[in-house]
Amino acid sequence: MTEYDRVPYPTHSLRQAQPDRLATIATLFGMEPPPVERCRVLELGCGEGANATAMAFHAPGSEIVGIDISTAAIARARVAAEALGLSNVTFRHVDIMDLSLEAAPFDYIIAHGVYSWVEAPVRDRLLAICRALLGPHGVAFVSYNTLPGYHVAGMLREMMLFHVRGTEDPRKPLQLLAVLLGTQIRRHLGPGGIRARSGWGISRGRDRGRDGPGSCAPARPRLRAPARSPRPDPPR
Ligand SMILES: C[S@@+](CC[C@H](N)C(=O)[O-])C[C@H]1O[C@@H](n2cnc3c(N)ncnc32)[C@H](O)[C@@H]1O
Repeated sequence: MTEYDRVPYPTHSLRQAQPDRLATIATLFGMEPPPVERCRVLELGCGEGANATAMAFHAPGSEIVGIDISTAAIARARVAAEALGLSNVTFRHVDIMDLSLEAAPFDYIIAHGVYSWVEAPVRDRLLAICRALLGPHGVAFVSYNTLPGYHVAGMLREMMLFHVRGTEDPRKPLQLLAVLLGTQIRRHLGPGGIRARSGWGISRGRDRGRDGPGSCAPARPRLRAPARSPRPDPPR
């Protein structure tokens, strides 16, 4: 059982990790990416599969495969795909380390919110999968945390890791984060502005679609209109 089994990590469809966005960028870079209406996509660390499910829904002619090490996440992904009646998406409970490099090539390989959270051998394997399984015109999307955007999230993560050293309970960092955010930071971002994640990263809830998990773009200040004093009665 992984910590992602013990603490559910809600996934969302991410526009930066959808084939149409990747194909557009690849074209701008002079590549000839495979057609997004009929493509084969592999998503590594797909979690609950919201991103892969959205792809499958919008491109019925494509074949999508999502893999994840969390049994619970894969089970939820399958339930959602079945509820939508999707037959072009498959979710497999597989460790990245065990994925065969012999599979048929994929046109798009996506790994969002994974690379920065796994050990070096898994990172190496992830890149080896891209090298081995990407078709000739294929596009790989591998996101990772980087400075300066990751600075605030990284700082909070370091604080949490310090306070939970020696404990195996994944709920501890979440409780600690709630305390940390409950007073100062939350007040500035507003309710739901930052969400704790089982991967011990954080993301800004409202802008997740733009920045993705673990990223930390500067918060927009929330301006509050000053309380109005009642209007004086007009002169009679
Ligand atoms: C931070 S979550 C990101 C989930 C999703 N890609 C997203 O962006 O919302 C990281 C995911 O990677 C999965 N994962 C971590 N190590 C893995 C491994 N060795 N093989 C497969 N999946 C793994 C976790 O189970 C988890 O679902």
